[in-house]
Amino acid sequence: GCRSNLTGKHILITAGPTHEPIDPVRYIANRSSGKQGYAIAAAAARAGAKVTLVSGPVALPTPPGVTRVDVETARQMATAVEAALPADVAIMVAAVADWRSAGEAARKIKKDGSGSVPPLQLVENPDILATLCRSDRRPPLVIGFAAETNDVIDHATAKLARKGADWIVANDVATHAMGGNINRLHIVSAAGVESLPELPKDAAAAALIEKVAHALA
Ligand code: PMT
Repeated sequence: GCRSNLTGKHILITAGPTHEPIDPVRYIANRSSGKQGYAIAAAAARAGAKVTLVSGPVALPTPPGVTRVDVETARQMATAVEAALPADVAIMVAAVADWRSAGEAARKIKKDGSGSVPPLQLVENPDILATLCRSDRRPPLVIGFAAETNDVIDHATAKLARKGADWIVANDVATHAMGGNINRLHIVSAAGVESLPELPKDAAAAALIEKVAHALA
């Protein structure tokens, strides 16, 4: 980790969940803590990179030397990612909500006591990674993450082509990757699959950043 040198490189990282409002007091979200993305941002900064971290709502301190942009929703994250370009590398670790409520209620939806439930209509959120990959300002190295509960490598391989990323880093969230402190990363690229051992998230981050530094060298 210490020998990776990313001086002069701008690395754009997304992390955490997004919160998609239903009404002023309720939202749709997921179990991402931001730990893996923040560890990657910290490792990139330690390697000398200029780091922009676009973060969903998390309870983590900003790593030293990292420029953090806080967002709440997927649409805000998409705007912040675009505003942070150009970048040499993008690493999309955020667990972006795939869907949001079709119509955010302006007032708190009231329980009326009749036992009837409010209809919750969902619409698809923008795919930030796929949009970035198709953009004319696409960073030379774009890395996506894939949180899977089954057939981890197969799904990651499919995602590589579908999203247009250079690497997809797969992790098995059936166990402990989401919210926990350890992770097992499988780096899937056109060159094949490199599986790292199960590691604390900061060590997994250092290993990934070392591989990024090698790829740019
Ligand atoms: O935050 P932690 O608790 O440390 O947990 C880390 C993690 C498990 C959340 C992380 O390692 C991880 O796997 N992040 C991606 C989770 C995910 O939801 O993947 P996905 O299969 O939905 O999306 C694939 C890729 O597309 C990701 O790079 C994602 O950031 C991106 N994406 C997805 C949907 C969308 N609308 N826009 C996107 O950019």
